[in-house]
Amino acid sequence: MAVNQSQSQSLQQNQAKKIPLFPFASIICFVSIFLLLSSIRNTTSIPSHSHHPSIQFPKTNGLSNPGASPESCDYSDGNWIRDPVGASPRYDHTCKEIFKGWNCISGNKSNGRDLINWRWKPAHCELPPFDPTAFLHAYRDTAIGFVGDSLNRNMFVSLFCSLKRVSNDVKKWRPAGADRGFTFLRYNLTIAYHRTNLLARYGRWSANANGGALESLGYKEGYRVDVDIPEGTWENALTFHDILIFNTGHWWWAPSKFDPVKSPMLFFERAQPVIPPVSPEAGLDMVLKHMVKYIENRTRPGTIKFFRTQSPRHFEGGDWDQGGACPRLKPLLPEQVETLFSLNNNGTNVEARLVNQHLFKALERSCFNSS
Ligand SMILES: *[C@@H]1O[C@H](CO)[C@@H](O)[C@H](O)[C@H]1NC(C)=O
Ligand SMILES: *[C@@H]1O[C@H](CO)[C@@H](O)[C@H](O)[C@H]1NC(C)=O
Ligand SMILES: *[C@@H]1O[C@H](CO)[C@@H](O)[C@H](O)[C@H]1NC(C)=O
Ligand SMILES: *[C@@H]1O[C@H](CO)[C@@H](O)[C@H](O)[C@H]1NC(C)=O
Repeated sequence: MAVNQSQSQSLQQNQAKKIPLFPFASIICFVSIFLLLSSIRNTTSIPSHSHHPSIQFPKTNGLSNPGASPESCDYSDGNWIRDPVGASPRYDHTCKEIFKGWNCISGNKSNGRDLINWRWKPAHCELPPFDPTAFLHAYRDTAIGFVGDSLNRNMFVSLFCSLKRVSNDVKKWRPAGADRGFTFLRYNLTIAYHRTNLLARYGRWSANANGGALESLGYKEGYRVDVDIPEGTWENALTFHDILIFNTGHWWWAPSKFDPVKSPMLFFERAQPVIPPVSPEAGLDMVLKHMVKYIENRTRPGTIKFFRTQSPRHFEGGDWDQGGACPRLKPLLPEQVETLFSLNNNGTNVEARLVNQHLFKALERSCFNSS
């Protein structure tokens, strides 16, 4: 991965490259969201741009009962199994939409080609393989937007590459301010990726010579985060898409992104600095509160909304430019999952669980479809 840094201006772009995904976890998220979407289409008819019925998925509590119907299955309870026969590749490294730094096969990762031999097996039900043709039929005349950081971009790429394999006739464009987007012309299905790291708008902040509340506390440099203003990249996505998938997470706890000393996050509400300044953790809660309200207010009735939880970072033992590596060749065993994520052990990916806890709290009683 390139290590050229032309400082502040390209910072956002460069940093987006630093947090690729651990592929296995992203696949779980991918399959579970699309499986849920498939079950929506099977059980409810959704006109593309009128009033969708509100759809609630049964809450899963981790206690799956054997023989449960797919609708009540906890898809997150399961294992990766090796299944070289069952795993036919949905796409490969030649799909142009895959970002160069995340292309395991082209990047010569030793097990790049072996990854597709693993399949997620829920403990108490079956997860049928993703069927791109059926998906295109089911989501005719629909627009699907992914709004978030690189985790969501990878999910968007995975969906695009899977569909492109069976339907070549695509128009590339940038609907509603999207970073990237495509319409599958034969089906009039549009999918788009709206890049945003924090959901809220943010940018460089430096002390004003005339002083101010933050200046008087000694702040010189930082990032201004407006907790009540959505980043412009997705503002217009809300009325454009029929289905929205949001995420945010790793950027909130990563000192390499917002150095707590040299360039802290400084939160603003109604254009005024929050005084006394609050931690990123408290800032995340403020942003989620405002953004969830904003989304509820702006989307058309019937828009299907997911907030996906956090999957692990790509690197262990440091960030990508600090000796970090992605040495794993096999999916994690259950006990390794604990080492990597546990709050008690301060695991490498401890922020994934922290972020998820904040998300669950913010989404309780919200309009989001639960899964
Ligand atoms: C991967 O290996 C091939 C063949 O050895 C080589 O030509 C290519 O430059 C390598 N790619 C990277 C990104 O290292
Ligand atoms: C294509 O799909 C969009 C929804 O994404 C819809 O608004 C539009 O009317 C559709 N176009 C046609 C020609 O059906
Ligand atoms: C909802 O959105 C409208 C504009 O679409 C705005 O005028 C109104 O203030 C918003 N309400 C809330 C509670 O955000
Ligand atoms: C957890 O680990 C990080 C980095 O490895 C370190 O900076 C932090 O102080 C640790 N926190 C605790 C509570 O041990």
